[in-house]
Order: sequence, then C-alpha cells, then structure tokens
Amino acid sequence: MATDFTEDTATAAVVESFSKTPDPRLREILGSLTRHLHAFVRDIEPTTQEWEQAIAFLTATGQKCDATRQEFILLSDVLGVSMLVEAINDRKAAAATDSTVLGPFHVVDSPPRELGDSIDLLDTGEPCVVTGRVVSVDGTPLPRALVDVWQCNEDGFYDVQQPDLQPLGNGRGLFTTDAEGAFLFRTIVPSYYPIPTDGPVGDLLAAGERHPYRPAHIHFIAGAEGHAPVTTHIFVAGSPYLESDAVFAVKKSLVEEFSVVDDPVQAAAYGVANPFRLANFDIVLQSS
Ligand code: BEZ
Ligand code: FE
Repeated sequence: MATDFTEDTATAAVVESFSKTPDPRLREILGSLTRHLHAFVRDIEPTTQEWEQAIAFLTATGQKCDATRQEFILLSDVLGVSMLVEAINDRKAAAATDSTVLGPFHVVDSPPRELGDSIDLLDTGEPCVVTGRVVSVDGTPLPRALVDVWQCNEDGFYDVQQPDLQPLGNGRGLFTTDAEGAFLFRTIVPSYYPIPTDGPVGDLLAAGERHPYRPAHIHFIAGAEGHAPVTTHIFVAGSPYLESDAVFAVKKSLVEEFSVVDDPVQAAAYGVANPFRLANFDIVLQSS
C-alpha cells in the first residue's frame, strides 16, 4: 500500500491495491472502474459539499429500492447505460429483431392465454388486435414459441401500479405460437406514460429539465427452442415522445403502425368492437 496518497499517486495506488484480485475479470473491472472514476473526479473537481450530495443521492436511490421498485435500474435507464449494455450484448444477425430494455414492470408472471384471447380484462380503451409470427433468421416459422407480452392501460398505468383498479394480469399474457409460428391477441392501445418520478431519479430528471415520458409501447419477450430469446417492445407509430424516450429505448425497426380498421366483418372475426386498431409484429430470432 502506498503512503502519501496525493493527486498524482491516487489512481496508481488504488489500481495497485486491487492487483492481487484472483479473478482476472474482476481485477480488470476494478482497475478500469478506478481509472475512470478518478478521471471523472479530476474532471469535475467536486467540492466536499457536492461529494456529500452525490453520496446522499446514491443512498436515497438504494433506499428507494424494494421488491417491486428498482431505482438503480431506473437510474441506469435514464443515463442511457441500460441501452448501451443492450447494444453491446445484442450484436446479432442484422435480420434478427432488435432488443430493447426490459423495464421495471415485468414483476409478475404473465398468465398463459390462448391465441386470440384478450389481455385487456376491463374492456376499456381503444380496441386493438396484435398479430405476428415468430420466425428464425432464415424465415423458418417457429411453432410453440413463447410470446410474453405486457403493457399499460389507456391511462398509462400497469396493473401492478393500480392494484385497486386493475386485476393482476391485466395487460399481460403468455402466448404460444401455432404450427405456422403465428400469434394473435386482443388488447387496447396503450398510452404513453411517465416513468416513476417519486424518487431520486425523478429529482435528477427535474434538475436536468428532462421530461419523464416513454412513448406508447407493448413489451415482448419471445423465445423458442434452439434460439436466443429477445426482450423488446413495439412502439405505436405517431405516439408522442418517440423522439425523446426518457430511457433512450426506441429503435426505428420497432415502431409499428397501429392502423385504424373500420370494417364490421373483420371486427366480428377478431371479436372486437368496430372500428379497431390493427398492428403486426413479426419477431425474428437468432439460433443460439
Ligand atoms: C417500461 O417500459 O416499462 C420502462 C422501462 C424503463 C424504465 C421505466 C419503465
Ligand atoms: Fe413499459
């Protein structure tokens, strides 16, 4: 251990202190963390009061976490770190469906449902039908693929956020594709909504005069045997905030038209009120 820890010797001293870390990956991470963190501190030269503020912010972030609230992931999301990690880990075949963030609302298992079922248990909102196929990169349909979907309601709330108003499982469904790899479910058009702002991350957004909104979307996790699962969303074309998602998770390839269909025959065939909105999302999985 070094003595006379100074501005000049600080970084080398701390990197050296980790040099006997037996796990080589952990040693690399701790060395890099030390170098980058020290470079950041040298760059901003915080006052002691600013350092205390930073510690208080991180403390509050940890204290906000519980079984259903993960403020550190939210912090990672609004700093663009979650999407950067996604991008680094999603260097896949160009044809495969793009991934995006999981988000904090996949906290309960989606109820298994039959193809064509509605995930909207309250019969509110603008009726909507979502169709699609799960295929491999070469176009082969993937029968018995699992398609897990979850979304907020027309007011922008997930079931778990409104336990008094929405039954658990509202806006959620676990579907299994048919022999052609196809899936179909009924729902309502989700709304754009704000990420939770009643914690330190909300304070951070406010301090930066950033809005907390996410464009309207439906979450998907799709998986099939022999294929890498994908965690993604479809975004409603034309939704507000597509250009300024608070968590940077929009990819152009995931923006889908939710077309207005005014056709009583089609509406009756799908079992929805006329007119309704129709979206299609084909999911391409890469073999694992
Ligand atoms: C979501 O889409 O559910 C979400 C993603 C990141 C942060 C907050 C919410
Ligand atoms: Fe969401």
